[in-house]
Amino acid sequence: MSHFQPVALEHASRLINHGPTVLVTSAAADRRNVMAAAWSMPVEFTPPRIAIVIDKHTWTRELMTASGAFAVCIPCVTGIDLAYAVGSVSGRDGDKFARFNIEAARGPVLGMPLIEEGCVAWMECRLVREPHTEDAYDTCFAEVVSAAADARVFHDGRWRFDDANTDLHTIHHLGGGNFVRSSSPIAARPL
Ligand SMILES: Cc1cc2nc3c(=O)[nH]c(=O)nc-3n(C[C@H](O)[C@H](O)[C@H](O)COP(=O)(O)O)c2cc1C
Repeated sequence: MSHFQPVALEHASRLINHGPTVLVTSAAADRRNVMAAAWSMPVEFTPPRIAIVIDKHTWTRELMTASGAFAVCIPCVTGIDLAYAVGSVSGRDGDKFARFNIEAARGPVLGMPLIEEGCVAWMECRLVREPHTEDAYDTCFAEVVSAAADARVFHDGRWRFDDANTDLHTIHHLGGGNFVRSSSPIAARPL
């Protein structure tokens, strides 16, 4: 049973606000791909836009440029091996979905591949075309057009990490396949 529920676009920025490692999925014609990305952030409120660094030499970048779309899927602790695996080989050398036995649904707005197993959220993104810079920079800007998250750990517009759901916490890459999970929440008190 899927625990994913739609996330209002006004709350989509919260999904990556804390800087988790993400999976970037892409598809164009009959080709599809997935890679890992540690570098992403919200940059605009309305419409919600994000910036994400996708090396211009990757297969992902080629597919994104061809289709004008991609998706960001946010892995949790149970998706660490997958995140490291898809970030360590190129889809040019073979379909990673088949190689790593990854199931993907089709995104509701852009039809991008969406991974829910080992992940706790996803966003479909429409690439903002920047013809004058796209050959020069690895940074890409995109508008979030649909989003969903696992309601066990994200509801009412924010993450709800606690000691009872540590397997569903998002992950942060320290390098070389080592990660830390988003840990215990600490609420600020009024001063
Ligand atoms: C944890 C992790 C984080 C990564 N972060 C980024 C990133 O932010 N940007 C990037 O361009 N590549 C990043 N990479 C590297 C890409 O995932 C890697 O080059 C991948 O093989 C590209 O796949 P592709 O050619 O199939 O698109 C990361 C790799 C790992 C393992």
